[in-house]
Amino acid sequence: MRKAGILGLGYYLPPKRLTNSDLEKMVDTSDQWIMTRTGIKERRIAGKDIATSDLGIKASKLAIQDSGLKPEDIDLIITATITPDMAFPATGCIIQDKIGAKNAAAFDINAACSGFVFGIVIAQQLVSTGAYNNVLVVGAEKLSSIVDWEDRSTCVLFGDGSGACVIGASDNRVIVSSFLGADGSGADLLKLPAGGSRMPATKETIKQRLHFLKMEGNEVFKIAVRIMVEAANKAITKVGLGCEDIDLLIPHQANIRILMAVAKRLGLPEEKIFMNIERYGNMSAASTAVALAEASKKNKIKRGDNIVLVAFGGGLTYGAALIQW
Ligand code: COA
Repeated sequence: MRKAGILGLGYYLPPKRLTNSDLEKMVDTSDQWIMTRTGIKERRIAGKDIATSDLGIKASKLAIQDSGLKPEDIDLIITATITPDMAFPATGCIIQDKIGAKNAAAFDINAACSGFVFGIVIAQQLVSTGAYNNVLVVGAEKLSSIVDWEDRSTCVLFGDGSGACVIGASDNRVIVSSFLGADGSGADLLKLPAGGSRMPATKETIKQRLHFLKMEGNEVFKIAVRIMVEAANKAITKVGLGCEDIDLLIPHQANIRILMAVAKRLGLPEEKIFMNIERYGNMSAASTAVALAEASKKNKIKRGDNIVLVAFGGGLTYGAALIQW
């Protein structure tokens, strides 16, 4: 088995900002409520003519450029998203065509907010075995297309964006350990009820606003802390490390209170937690992808650091990956 590491990173945020004061004009909420309950100040919103693949393409091109490779060197594209351009074909196939990765296979995965971590782990395994050489993992979301802008309990939380990384054989930035988990008994806590085979689109489903994201926020909150801590612990203890060995935790940016509670339980000081939730909100699969790329670009990571990516999301799914930089 060869070592698999990160060869390149990229991220993209659409320019339009939706601030808490903008939301005050749309629903019965306040900047103060949103800031104190979630830590979010603003989020990015993609234009009407922009789809998830368009966001993913921008991050992918940057990641490939950063890796020093050419699009035709990519032999597999894994796209994590819950807001695909369409139910099918896979958004990854659209990205593959538009970036000119003509030698790449492509498929999408749906592990909701944990999707990018799941994608990295799949890529690491495929590179380690020698089955693939340069795998592009994309986390891209246009959550604004499934958010109910009349529901104040959810619309304040989410934003649009994309991040990507290229994983290949490398002795640097190596993915050394991981853990993936799921608990389908929590499937109803966070879902988009209609538009699938269980409840195909009808006039009635549209009238009942069932094509928008629904969430039991309180329940998700309680479970989130426990499963993120479990995932991080399992990934680091597998290779004989402890929490004290973590140099930077890059968590899924769901809610600042969740992140603080996770940090406390892992015994990590605030400066060891990477956060950009204030500027981007929760971007589901794009959150950890953007956070990893941004942390690297802003020199928050140095050679030899132990980085833990950890996420949870709809499914419920959860996972962590330990990267030795
Ligand atoms: N503005 C103002 N008031 C709001 C509001 C908003 N945007 N959204 C909800 N409220 C109100 C509620 O109606 C409720 O009012 P009531 O007490 O009169 O009934 C009150 O605020 C408290 O609501 P509650 O849901 O208990 O708040 P909370 O502290 O649990 O925060 C979340 C709500 C959604 C921010 C929080 O539960 C959360 O972050 N959950 C996890 C969500 C998550 O991470 N999801 C992504 C998973 S990947």
